[in-house]
Amino acid sequence: MSSRDLATLINKAVETIKNDGLVIMPTETVYGLAANALSSSAVAKIFAAKQRPANNPLIVHLHSLDQLNCVVSEFPPLALKLAEKFWPGPITMVLPRKSTLPDIVTAGQPSVAVRIPSHPVALEFLRKCNLPLAAPSANISESISPTRISHIHPRLKALAGIVLDGGFCQIGVESTVLSFINEQPAILRHGGIEIEKIEQLIGQCSIPSSTDSLGSPGRIGRHYAPSTPLTIISNPDELPTSGNFAVVRFSPKSPIGNAVCVVTLSAMFEDIAREIFDTLFNLDKMGLDKIFVYSIPKTGLGMAIMDRLSRASIKHKTTTIPEK
Ligand code: TXA
Ligand code: MG
Repeated sequence: MSSRDLATLINKAVETIKNDGLVIMPTETVYGLAANALSSSAVAKIFAAKQRPANNPLIVHLHSLDQLNCVVSEFPPLALKLAEKFWPGPITMVLPRKSTLPDIVTAGQPSVAVRIPSHPVALEFLRKCNLPLAAPSANISESISPTRISHIHPRLKALAGIVLDGGFCQIGVESTVLSFINEQPAILRHGGIEIEKIEQLIGQCSIPSSTDSLGSPGRIGRHYAPSTPLTIISNPDELPTSGNFAVVRFSPKSPIGNAVCVVTLSAMFEDIAREIFDTLFNLDKMGLDKIFVYSIPKTGLGMAIMDRLSRASIKHKTTTIPEK
């Protein structure tokens, strides 16, 4: 698309937001389904479109620190330190909220999650809107987050007035979510900025148990899941001797047994993060009975990748939506 066509489309997207509509926007992590965060009725459309439980709050996206005061009531010094280093970029901070923000955005909680994304199309769109935009990942709840426009469910595309195509998302896993609500900062979701880099800057963070939702229901239970059952393995003995199954591995040396399909990704965590949802999306279309994925170490981005894979491997699926 030419830069002129993109500018025209962004202008239409701004109009859509101002008329309380939904827009699919690219970010550097995954695609988002955006609405004006200051309009309850616009935000209600996000929850309906995604079939998202009303108790799961949304991230508010901003174009600059100047916009913080429309949504946040306090910005602690440690948060500022992180913002100076990592924004625009894949880190979300949970902070005390302004009471003027509609309750639906924060699921009635006294806190709000905010981030400044770095994707140039997202930033341009946010600047032109000059409104805070609530945007969850543009997937139906529990399913794979989209890193390409082609991953987005046709129902969501149809419900969004405008789809802004920003190409393949370069980080590929969602932002890290860090809460400043208690005295010690707490990692609510591992994501695009590694905990090691965060702790280097602001000291030790707590990592609450994964059985406690802490007002962040998005952090527990099945999520990021293809409809084909997925199993994480650490050793080839765990592969079945036969069957219609695929193996995803991170070294050409890892055995694949009798797999009917194999995907070998690079062993670099940045590459795995960028490719993993795309790989699962493609395998999910192949009519396989099972997908086996070799585990990787839980360090750096490996934490976020293993979090997504282990939640994708939880069996019970609660949400289904027909294609049309
Ligand atoms: O990379 C990302 O963060 C993407 C792009 C589109 O920005 N967005 C995204 O949004 O992943 P979503 O809605 O799929 O995930 C937001 C997570 C959920 O786990 C939610 O529970 C948590 O952030 N969250 C949002 N507001 C919160 C709050 N006030 N307190 C605690 N957790 C919150
Ligand atoms: Mg999501």
